[in-house]
Amino acid sequence: MIGSMNIKTKVLHYLMDNQGSFVSGVTLSDNFACSRMAVCKAVASLQEDGYPIESSKRLGYKLNLGSDVLSKATLSKYLEGSNIDVYCYKEIDSTNKKAKELAINGIEPPFVVVSAKQNQGRGRIGRSFSSPEGGLYFSLVLSGKDIPTPDLITTSASLAVSRTLERITGIKTDIKWVNDLYLNGKKVVGILTEGLVNIEEGGLAQVVIGIGVNLNVKLEQYPEELQTIVTSFYPNGDCPYSRSMVIAECVKEVIKIQKEDFLHEYRKKCFILGKPLYVLRGDTKREAVALSVDDLGHLVVQYSDESIEALSSGEVSLRL
Ligand code: BTN
Repeated sequence: MIGSMNIKTKVLHYLMDNQGSFVSGVTLSDNFACSRMAVCKAVASLQEDGYPIESSKRLGYKLNLGSDVLSKATLSKYLEGSNIDVYCYKEIDSTNKKAKELAINGIEPPFVVVSAKQNQGRGRIGRSFSSPEGGLYFSLVLSGKDIPTPDLITTSASLAVSRTLERITGIKTDIKWVNDLYLNGKKVVGILTEGLVNIEEGGLAQVVIGIGVNLNVKLEQYPEELQTIVTSFYPNGDCPYSRSMVIAECVKEVIKIQKEDFLHEYRKKCFILGKPLYVLRGDTKREAVALSVDDLGHLVVQYSDESIEALSSGEVSLRL
């Protein structure tokens, strides 16, 4: 891998490995068999991209701690050892839309499309997803053959993201079936999973798992109507973690969880079980109680007339 990288990416990865410490220009030029001038140019270009690199004539170069540049080079460092390709944008309409375009145009999975913000973020049921700077917006594309249980892809992705964010930040989230994460009763993560079907062979060719995390967004960055129903992990904008690192960890966990038996843990985090709710379909709203999540990830509800239904998708809202 390292042989195929350009000098700029090699220098960045070396400085990331030694983040917070100085590395001499000679070490870098010797390591990458290039001139001191080439190293100097690479560092200048990284600084231009926004990397907080200090340079000292005597000591060399230091990537300061707290660097948070979202780029292909940073993400690929955090995804080192995996075969996941990265497409990274400063702004895009929707990472899910781009991911589907790339897949349809023959880009082989696994790959991830990332953007620092979206101007037409898509939500479930045709809704929009507000995606200001500071949040994480990424779509992971996997081959259908790497998904042992397609029915459970959405369920597994929500648990994987909840686990990852708790491990990194220490902040626990609850799952609202199917795949929204909640923090203090407010939505903090949304997931939109879309499948691409192979028409000739039949079956699921690829799956696009689009994940939006309100990580480091101040509440005033959201439209007013959302400010009382959504929240952010760091609503003061003081997140100490790099977006690239958090995205890479989520991506690895989503892939890893596919091989696990995870429903027991999902059920424990699913805060609507045992609660009275409404099942929403179009304009209709039916009273029910959430009984369980079955082995296909369906929500089993009991209506007031005692009848029972296993919901495979759709929307529910708590009856307060
Ligand atoms: C929902 O809450 O209804 C689902 C929201 C999913 C949002 C993510 S952000 C990254 C990806 N790109 C999109 O346009 N949507 C998903």
